[in-house]
Amino acid sequence: MIGAKEGYDLWAPAYDGFDNPMIALASRAIDVAALPVSGKHFLDIGCGTGRNLAWALSKGAAQVTGLDGSPGMLDQARIKLGPKATLIERDLSGDWGLAPASHDIACISLVLEHFPTVAPLIAQAADALVPGGTLFVAEMHADLARGGTGAHFEKDGKRHALPSYGHDRVEFDAALTAAGFADAVFVDWRADDHAAAVPKLAKHAGKSALLSFTAKRR
Ligand SMILES: C[S@@+](CC[C@H](N)C(=O)[O-])C[C@H]1O[C@@H](n2cnc3c(N)ncnc32)[C@H](O)[C@@H]1O
Repeated sequence: MIGAKEGYDLWAPAYDGFDNPMIALASRAIDVAALPVSGKHFLDIGCGTGRNLAWALSKGAAQVTGLDGSPGMLDQARIKLGPKATLIERDLSGDWGLAPASHDIACISLVLEHFPTVAPLIAQAADALVPGGTLFVAEMHADLARGGTGAHFEKDGKRHALPSYGHDRVEFDAALTAAGFADAVFVDWRADDHAAAVPKLAKHAGKSALLSFTAKRR
């Protein structure tokens, strides 16, 4: 199996053109979360091609910073955002090197499935947030992971599956408490409720497709 960062490098040029139902659902989730982005410093952890950074700028963020380990994905983000975003190449399994309490809102969208446990990333997100700052997470639902769904793409007629791990609410709750977050609000995104607008979700009928939540840094 190809590694996540190498895989996303291969996928990067075609990534934004791919009709991805999880991206469609995660976009709805960040809108529904109504994050107080205006005038704030927004951090996107695993920013990929800069989709959420562009969203934050459109909502009036004063500053946006993205971390990602794939140079190819960051190149796409650079093309999309130009100098409006600070983009940093970083392996998220190591030290992110961010100043403590330097961001108001942190986002982790469709990234945690590539990590065996979420706690180390949630803890670093907490360190990067100001007290009272908000964490937003959107992640493939553990029900899908249990059924064998995981990130994958095709290139030159070859299917590439990326390392994928399911994370459930129990694991997220424990990681949030350990990292000093409170007031978590979870949303379970059932495929049936969104299949009319996102037809590719029909294949997940009867299942939850995405879990999203916000939590406050104490
Ligand atoms: C599915 S994409 C999501 C991109 C973006 N967050 C979004 O919602 O559009 C997952 C991203 O996680 C990044 N990623 C995965 N494992 C990583 C690691 N160990 N270090 C840094 N980035 C990683 C990939 O490079 C990729 O850009």
